[in-house]
Amino acid sequence: MKQTYEHIHPVPQLPGFAARIEGLDLAQPLSGDVKRELHRALNEFGLLTIPPQPLTPEQHLDLASAFGQIATGAYFPRKDGYPDIEVIRTDREHPPELNVWHSDVTWKAQFPTGTVIQLLELPAAGGNTAWACGRKALQGLSAGMQQYLRGLTATHSWTGSLVEDALRQADTETLLEVARRFGPVVHPLVRRHPESGDDVLFANEAFTRKVNDVPFRESRALLEFLREWMIQPEFVYSHKWEQNGIAVWDNRSTQHYAVADYWPQNRLLQRVTFNSVAE
Ligand SMILES: [Fe+2]
Repeated sequence: MKQTYEHIHPVPQLPGFAARIEGLDLAQPLSGDVKRELHRALNEFGLLTIPPQPLTPEQHLDLASAFGQIATGAYFPRKDGYPDIEVIRTDREHPPELNVWHSDVTWKAQFPTGTVIQLLELPAAGGNTAWACGRKALQGLSAGMQQYLRGLTATHSWTGSLVEDALRQADTETLLEVARRFGPVVHPLVRRHPESGDDVLFANEAFTRKVNDVPFRESRALLEFLREWMIQPEFVYSHKWEQNGIAVWDNRSTQHYAVADYWPQNRLLQRVTFNSVAE
């Protein structure tokens, strides 16, 4: 449902998706009204981009608190003194490895609601992040296909994914812990967003392993169809970063891809993950 805003000015970059937030000064403390409108905008648009401005770690954490409770995030290194701020550095020794379509950590039953990311160092060109809208992807399908998908679930797992590669390079202890704690999980292929009430198509090439309760070849063909369908340009916004640029994504209604066209140049970002209290 189209919302109205008094304190911020969201400008969608695609119809109904990916709004650039104008009129937001993060040097000022965020009022409750501004935080509520940001949260509403995230539910409406799935992805918010915020024009470049410096953020202290405290301001970054406070911005994330507009959308939910600060959460642990994934398995990236942490900023010194800030256990809730993840740091992702790409340089000659650390090649980019997030150039695969995924929603974060969908291999857990309770996966992150979303993330606030800030780009601190940029390559001279390239290094975009692309986001795909699961709501638009569902709405673009024929009624019959939507009805068919609504009855199905899919299995998600970290094994055989970029996460397994990263864990194998990190430390054996973490790999063993993840292997012990996290078996395959099941999510519906069409998921109702708990805050917006919108239905979204929910599958990604990194972690979605099979469609359940259908023949093997039907599952394989369906996942390949969904992979291609969900990332068509009509549903994808590719964001060109500026230094200190900020973005907030809803991990339940979008998937993303970190374009890896700039190596061996450097790219450095910090991110704070949050979980919804509604889920
Ligand atoms: Fe990610």
